Amino acid sequence: MSTSTNKPLLILGVETSCDETAAAVVADGRHVLSNAIYTQIAIHQPYGGVVPEIASRKHIEQTDRMIDAALSDAGVSPDEIDAVAVTCGPGLVGSLLCGVSAAKAYAYASKKPLIGVNHIEGHISANYITHPELEPPFVCLVVSGGHTHIVVVEDYCRYRLLGRTRDDAAGEAFDKVARLIGLGYPGGPKIEAAARESAAPIPFRPPFLNDDSFDFSFSGIKTAVINYYHNAQQRGESPSQSDVAAGFQSAVIEVLVTKLIRAARAEGMTRVAMAGGVSCNGALRALAEKRASQEGMTLFCPQPVLCTDNAAMIASAGYYRFVRGERADLSLNALPNLRLF
Ligand code: KG4
Ligand code: ZN
Repeated sequence: MSTSTNKPLLILGVETSCDETAAAVVADGRHVLSNAIYTQIAIHQPYGGVVPEIASRKHIEQTDRMIDAALSDAGVSPDEIDAVAVTCGPGLVGSLLCGVSAAKAYAYASKKPLIGVNHIEGHISANYITHPELEPPFVCLVVSGGHTHIVVVEDYCRYRLLGRTRDDAAGEAFDKVARLIGLGYPGGPKIEAAARESAAPIPFRPPFLNDDSFDFSFSGIKTAVINYYHNAQQRGESPSQSDVAAGFQSAVIEVLVTKLIRAARAEGMTRVAMAGGVSCNGALRALAEKRASQEGMTLFCPQPVLCTDNAAMIASAGYYRFVRGERADLSLNALPNLRLF
């Protein structure tokens, strides 16, 4: 999709829904000119998770700096931007408010159109950046710290939900298990690294539900890991972190990949995608790649820096809303429970 002139459409994206303060400039929804990210991971690490109040305070400090960095890294002046796209939900309300307020102020002062973007749509759209040839329809597994969904991307901006988690998100399960076994925060990358060292993964049962749905549940496996750990400790044993991590990871990715492929088959789709922080996971990507190719399907994943929270994905999603004529006004608000489906 392109505009009537040859000049690319430049969207400034702003993302502050959780603990990354990010701004980016993306041309025509697909080409990243800059992708500035200030990550607060180290700040929240001592608390074992994101502390919303601290996150908001850091966003206040960093949002304008990231916007300036995004513009200067891209080598574009504020005047050259065609629109400002900002995550308005779902997420932490205080965090969201920082980005929404900054984007509104920026759009108002520079007389640029404003677009509100759903964070989940942003994650899905990261695939358009990494794979310029990818067009809807396709089936996408969105797996992050806050979300686990199987979505049919019917068209740009048009989604149908096939399944979702009934309790914890996949990334949340990684984070909780990592904390439990003493690996610290954020859990996903630490579990992945520990699992690589395992010689004998603990055979946790993959948490399939007793039905044909595309829904997930990760609270049971979390409890299974807790019980395994406590029982071992009561016997005076010290369980191997890496064997627990490997067993947990393998059970979780088995369910994620099986349901993604089954969903694509049910929908008659040969293109499957993944998105969100957990889709950085190398074991998940390898298993999905293997199963997709066995089924004659093509797998798409964003490059890792676009899997975790960033503003390039928000600019990409914003572009497709912008070219459809969508505009937000200055009443745009932070919507912590914003829905996409
Ligand atoms: O997409 P994201 O940055 O933020 C949300 O929208 O939630 O995802 C963060 C989540 C965290 O739970 C983190 O542990 C998980 O993604 N994650 C991973 C990996 N890298 C990040 N999970 C498994 N393996 C990884 N390599
Ligand atoms: Zn996210």
